[in-house]
Order: sequence, then structure tokens, then C-alpha cells
Amino acid sequence: MSNRVTIHTLHKMKQRGEAIAMLTAYDYPTAALLDQSGIDMILVGDSLGMVVHGFETTLPVTMDMMVLHCQAVTRGAKRPLIVADMPFMSYQTSVADARRNAARLLAEGGADAVKVEGGAFIVPTIKALTEAGIAVMGHIGLTPQSVSVFGGYKTQGKSLEAARKLIADARAIEEAGAFALVIEAIPARLAALISGQVGIPTIGIGAGAGCDGQVLVTHDMLGLFERFTPRFVKKYADLSTSLREAFAAYCADVRARDFPAEAHEFTVADDVWSALEDEFST
Ligand code: KIV
Repeated sequence: MSNRVTIHTLHKMKQRGEAIAMLTAYDYPTAALLDQSGIDMILVGDSLGMVVHGFETTLPVTMDMMVLHCQAVTRGAKRPLIVADMPFMSYQTSVADARRNAARLLAEGGADAVKVEGGAFIVPTIKALTEAGIAVMGHIGLTPQSVSVFGGYKTQGKSLEAARKLIADARAIEEAGAFALVIEAIPARLAALISGQVGIPTIGIGAGAGCDGQVLVTHDMLGLFERFTPRFVKKYADLSTSLREAFAAYCADVRARDFPAEAHEFTVADDVWSALEDEFST
């Protein structure tokens, strides 16, 4: 398909100053709707552990879960570039593990690229994956798989030292071969500075308007995940309210015997029915 979004498309967009739109998806219908909306990139994020499976963090997400969700998403969306998150400990243990698991997300899951969290320490992994022909997206700032080290979901890069480290990390990740970089929950001015320091597109989440693109967790922007909503999320819909109302209306209809109505029923031919009545009438 000629209008498929590729890494080349994204690099051209950065050069032209065109903003890149990315959202998460974890299932077929959402992916199909995102494709129809003209989204540039879809992230099969390990946030699915929290917003779909109800875990407290992303840490319990497994490779098998990621592969299954990837398969559903790649069936639904054909135009956007699809990036799959590498879950906790699928790439931190060794470069060989990283290669084997990333290959599964591409070969079994159908993803176009993988995303790994972390700064300088992840550089050898990014190099090894890109050398093996696997496109890699980096992720710095608030990296949710390190939540226990951060002591919670806190803004990163606020001190001079931390800001300098993020700039160095971003450069190292680009040099290692990553095609793009997610920057999460850092001051907007710092994210804009980093975006100007690297040639690859930066995709911000809670990182202000100075990034080359934006990503949000779809369940957050649709108002579908009620446990908590980060301050940086803009809600584009209130689906929780709509769904609650629809479910309550269904329960009321069933209890009042208003559903199913005639329009929802199947019919049987009169001759078949009279034969049945003759046979079974008491
Ligand atoms: O898992 C995810 O959805 C992510 C985004 C928060 C960028 O990594």
C-alpha cells in the first residue's frame, strides 16, 4: 500500500515541521477506527496491563500478552506505523533475549517496530536490535517500567543534572540507531530543547508542545480508564459515562421485557409452525 506510514515518512514529517499523531490501541476495533481517523502511528503499549487488564503497574505484562494484542491491532490497522512495547524484563536481561523477543513482536505480532524504555544503559540493546534489522523507538523521562526506582509516577528531568542526563540519553539513543524517541513527563522547555538536539522525531506525552509529535493512552483520552488520569491528558470523550448509561439501559430493558423487540427476532414459516403446534400442543 503506497500511503503506508514508514520510518522515512516520519523523518520527512520532522524535517517539514509536520506534527506526528500517535495513540495506543490494544484491540482490533480500536485499531480499525484509528486507521480510519488518519493516525500516523499506533502504539501497542504495555499500558494495556493497567487499562485493559487492571494491573496496578505495567510490570506483570508478558510477551505472550503483547503478541496477542499486537496480532489484534495489526489485523485492524494497515496504514499507520505500528510500534509494540517490549514488556518488563523481555529486553533488560540480555541482548539475546531482546533480539528473540523483539523478533516475536514483528514475526508473530505483525508490528513494524518495537519500543524499549531507558537511557544510556539501553544503547547496546538498541544497537543490537537495529543491526538485526529491527526498528527501535526509545523512551526516556518517566519510564513506567522503572516506577519502583522513581518511587511513583513523577515528573523527571527537573534538576540541572537530571536534565543534562536526559539530553545525553536522547543523543546516545539516536546514535545507537533508534528511529524515534518517546519523551514522557518532563518539563516542556526541556523536551523542546531535546527535540532540537536530535535528528529523529520526538513523541511527547506530558512533555509539552515542543516535541515533533504527541502520544496519549487512548483509554485516558476517551475517559475510559477511571482509576486515575494524569494531569497532561486531555479528555476528548467521556466514554465511561456513555457506556454506564448504555449498560444500565440494557439491564432495564431486559428486566422490563422490552428487549428483544420484534425487530430483533427471527421468524419461522407458518406451515412449520402449525406442524409444531399440532405435535406439541397440550
Ligand atoms: O505503554 C504505553 O502506553 C506507553 C505510553 C505511555 C507512551 O509507553
